[in-house]
Amino acid sequence: MNPNLISIADLSSEEIRAVLDRADELKVRRDDPAARSILAGKSLAAIFEKPSTRTRVSLEVAMTDLGGHALYLNSGDLQLGRGETIADTARVLSRFVSGIAARVYDHNTVEELARTATVPVINSLSNAEHPCQILADLMTMRERFGRLAGLKVAWVGDGNNVCNSTILACALMGMDIAVASPPGFGPDRKILDQADRLGGRTVVVADPVEAVRGADVVETDTWVSMGDEAEAAKRAEAFRRYQVNSGLLRHAKSDVIVLHCLPAHRGMIF
Ligand code: NVA
Repeated sequence: MNPNLISIADLSSEEIRAVLDRADELKVRRDDPAARSILAGKSLAAIFEKPSTRTRVSLEVAMTDLGGHALYLNSGDLQLGRGETIADTARVLSRFVSGIAARVYDHNTVEELARTATVPVINSLSNAEHPCQILADLMTMRERFGRLAGLKVAWVGDGNNVCNSTILACALMGMDIAVASPPGFGPDRKILDQADRLGGRTVVVADPVEAVRGADVVETDTWVSMGDEAEAAKRAEAFRRYQVNSGLLRHAKSDVIVLHCLPAHRGMIF
């Protein structure tokens, strides 16, 4: 079994189901003393090249809740930020900790960490994928609908890292997905091909109304991901028609749920 979680597709559908079952179980056993020692004596190095609120807090609190310990390391704190190689960082961390989580700009960085570390590596967001986010989203969908297979997901907006992981997760879990993005901002061709190979039913359209028609779940994300800031004005213009609002949601199922990995920029008017 692959010890790393770099892409959501590193997990099979059975493994995803097992992770979700375990998460459901631990959610209700949060105060159970036996659960609070599952990771006793284990440390996680959590490297953050980019800012984070939810991922950092959830990783750190999860380690504490399960009896372990997390070290928050931003790249400025590490020799990595001063030119130490990824491989040397991975090797030295592996001698101290039981796992490494990394939020990075370039997906190659987390892949190289996984290749060179001797402990499991978890991608906590790269420019290409955000597998932990998608596991949390799948958990929410399953809690809400009692199943995953057969659900219809609509992704409206940027064909970004979170979108890529959502497309692959839908393919793995037998869910339909329709993606509506402005021209030039659609999902990566390689991801669409990979989803096809996994037996996915992915449709890419330009019209958000077409994407959300009959959807159980509407997902969206910021129009300006970390690292895309220089394109903010161009993106605001391109995505104007891709807002998720009450008018758009009228075309989805009446019990639709809306997921957004956050952060949200509240009160922003276009
Ligand atoms: N697509 C966003 C997700 C933030 C959690 C980004 O990469 O900035």
